[in-house]
Amino acid sequence: MSANPLAPEWLKPPTDANVLPATVWSQNAGRAESGMLEVAGVSASALAAEFGTPLYVVDEADVRARAAEARECFDREFGRVGSAAKVYYAGKAFLSTQIARWVTEAGLYIDVCSAGELAVALAAGVDPIRLGFHGNNKSLAEIDRAVRAGVGVIVIDSLIEIERIADAAARHSRVQSVRLRLNSGVHAHTHEYLATAREDQKFGITLADAPAAVARIRSHDSLRFLGLHSHIGSQIFESDGFVESAKRLLALHAELLRGGPIPELNLGGGFGIAYTSVDTALPTPEIAARFANIVASECARLGIPVPVVAVEPGRSIVGPSTFTLYEVGTIKDVEVTLPHSGTAIRKYVSVDGGMSDNIRTALYAADYSVRLANRASTAQPTLVRVVGKHCESGDIVVLADYLPGDVVPGDLLAVPATGAYGWAMASNYNYLARPAVVAVCDGVARVIVRGETEADLLSRDAGAGPDGVNAAAGVTEEGAP
Ligand code: LLP
Repeated sequence: MSANPLAPEWLKPPTDANVLPATVWSQNAGRAESGMLEVAGVSASALAAEFGTPLYVVDEADVRARAAEARECFDREFGRVGSAAKVYYAGKAFLSTQIARWVTEAGLYIDVCSAGELAVALAAGVDPIRLGFHGNNKSLAEIDRAVRAGVGVIVIDSLIEIERIADAAARHSRVQSVRLRLNSGVHAHTHEYLATAREDQKFGITLADAPAAVARIRSHDSLRFLGLHSHIGSQIFESDGFVESAKRLLALHAELLRGGPIPELNLGGGFGIAYTSVDTALPTPEIAARFANIVASECARLGIPVPVVAVEPGRSIVGPSTFTLYEVGTIKDVEVTLPHSGTAIRKYVSVDGGMSDNIRTALYAADYSVRLANRASTAQPTLVRVVGKHCESGDIVVLADYLPGDVVPGDLLAVPATGAYGWAMASNYNYLARPAVVAVCDGVARVIVRGETEADLLSRDAGAGPDGVNAAAGVTEEGAP
């Protein structure tokens, strides 16, 4: 079969458009004998019938396994070089109390970056000492709350925060451990908005400013300097950026050791995952081994002890665990004029969600793949674009993939690898209710975050009372009940 000329270069027509590449799907996803997609023994049709669509479907054992694997690999590799590791799960990728419990049960720490994320982690019963608090503009209230809660570490992102955190800690008679986030100047190979350590962006302080900042941190009795931090970006496939960043941080770390102890070094997260069959992510054991090798060899060269190394993966823990299940509503064959001559057909398949449940395609031109979920089909694979139901043309879920050509309204589609930054970045655009999150494990599916209802959508609207007047009886002029 020849490729549709509208398909991107990397996307080849499959011989079988039903195949679920293991790199893109969660560990317990597969096709039943009937051809239907199932996960951990629960079929896509059963999930749609019980919980409706769109729906985020999380393979719980997959999350637990990836969390455990990350911890084991980093423990093993840093143990091998005479040190230890801490793996923080970056909660921003996908956080609910259940997920917080799964990852902490696997031995992970959690990184939170707002009062809201902190509240979820605390509501999950996570020991605050296992939390790291991030953010380039933490409010005074957030700093106060984090200190009072007893979070293990706060990551300082700017010079102005040193005094703010020192004051809060002193006020609460605490000694707060802090890291200092650096902008190492390393250019990660990823989308511009996902690269966080090139010079012209908002995070961290420069390497040049670091010695003075650390001296200031050390001058406060209410602060304990835990070490340097760097996060070079997200969805990174190559390790050279991490290696370069580790080298730059360790050179500074060695210099700063002259002024006092520095127990740890945090190298951030950002490990890429496969969204399509052509993506090849570095396996976690490989990442851990490379991190340990570079840190150990640099420390040997510098003549310093290997610090405890912390990492902060989010996407690689939860991304592959989840698919989004949609129902097809309408289908349109659109004739598109080709750049040189002729035309080709792009089949637009509209689903019942869209950019409100997955903004990544619109925001980063991220690639995803799609499969027919309620059945397998031997129909000739056809190039499709999966679009949502929002009122704008950029509302695209999957830019390009091949589906069996007999896809019809009422079919279920599954888009894999939506666990990270899918639900987490969901919105109510066009007043769509955000979908539920269902966890599936050992043949049982349960809601871990319920879907929104129309009542939820109206619940904060002060004029949405039953008779058109303010429903929120008791609202005062200040808006406080
Ligand atoms: N640590 C810090 C300080 C971070 O800012 C982030 C992500 C992580 C760790 C985790 O990175 P991960 O391992 O998940 O790549 N919304 C974007 C990603 C933004 C990442 C923000 N920070 C996306 O959908 O691709």
